[in-house]
Amino acid sequence: MLILAPMQGLTELMFRRAYSQCFPGALDSSVAPFVSLTHGNCGGREQLEDILPERNEGSIPVIPQILGHELEEFVRMADCMGDLGYTEVNWNIGCPMRRIAAKHRGSGILPYPDEIREVLDYVVPRIKPRLSVKMRLGHRSADEIIDIIPILNDYPLANVTIHGRTGKQQYGGSVDKERVFKAASMLKAPFIYNGDICTAGQWSTVSGRWSAISGKTLAGVMIGRGVLYDPTLPLKIKGIEGDYTEMTRQFVTTLYDAIERDFPHDIPRLRKMKEYWCLVYKSLPVSESAARAMLRLQEIKDFRKAVELAVRCVPAQGDLSS
Ligand SMILES: Cc1cc2nc3c(=O)[nH]c(=O)nc-3n(C[C@H](O)[C@H](O)[C@H](O)COP(=O)(O)O)c2cc1C
Repeated sequence: MLILAPMQGLTELMFRRAYSQCFPGALDSSVAPFVSLTHGNCGGREQLEDILPERNEGSIPVIPQILGHELEEFVRMADCMGDLGYTEVNWNIGCPMRRIAAKHRGSGILPYPDEIREVLDYVVPRIKPRLSVKMRLGHRSADEIIDIIPILNDYPLANVTIHGRTGKQQYGGSVDKERVFKAASMLKAPFIYNGDICTAGQWSTVSGRWSAISGKTLAGVMIGRGVLYDPTLPLKIKGIEGDYTEMTRQFVTTLYDAIERDFPHDIPRLRKMKEYWCLVYKSLPVSESAARAMLRLQEIKDFRKAVELAVRCVPAQGDLSS
């Protein structure tokens, strides 16, 4: 099972729709970027816009995600998601952003196992959808997970995703796979692996290692940046062959068309296109310097033309890198 990781600002519905249009069935599932319990109006329509079933029809199947630990709001939000038809909601206890973690939200709750138990004790028996968890090894230390797993094991969780970094590491440094596997082998719930899967080889190493350690297959592998760097990665993992460069080119075009349609003004449109470009150019036949030079273009039409030419291996406006 290949699952698209939630990435705030990147893997919202527009991306998921464009993706499933170009690569139907390549990703089996996705987790939506988090809905925070701190913004009041819990379960209000605009907070749930991204996961409204009618808007997600035909797109990658999606599981909503909740960030926060406010007990009553959590239950209310999970039930609003349940009322929309979702049978699983995911609890984010991995977000490392400082201002979030400082309030014991996201990875900030990991050093406090009692607080995790308090949330699970209150929430799990009260909500209609099943709860799954997405976490890191810890916030300050990669050992924190050792005290958390026995707590998770006391609840009938749908699954647990582990990203092999600490919150303090943010997204830098390397993933500690062995620690992930050690923790996961103590886990009762189905285990989903996450972190730094950017090639089919990395996927097969991780899958093989887990089978060797546990005698089981992974319940899933969740991939974030790997899909943004190379949208054809799920096809490569699944052994689906084709002209990957052409497929990526078509995907970029579909995504950029969607951005032009969905964003109201040129400045945010161009900003969004550049955000994706910074990631996806890595799998296209364009040099690092040319790709970076394109980020200096100020007009959408110039930028899109340069992208179009760059991916066809034609230098745009002479050599942009010079
Ligand atoms: C820009 C950005 C936004 C993210 N937003 C979320 C989020 O909303 N919820 C979440 O659980 N994780 C979020 N993550 C973490 C990813 O889901 C994932 O765990 C992390 O990127 C590691 O996986 P990867 O190496 O496959 O990218 C985010 C990561 C990035 C870089």
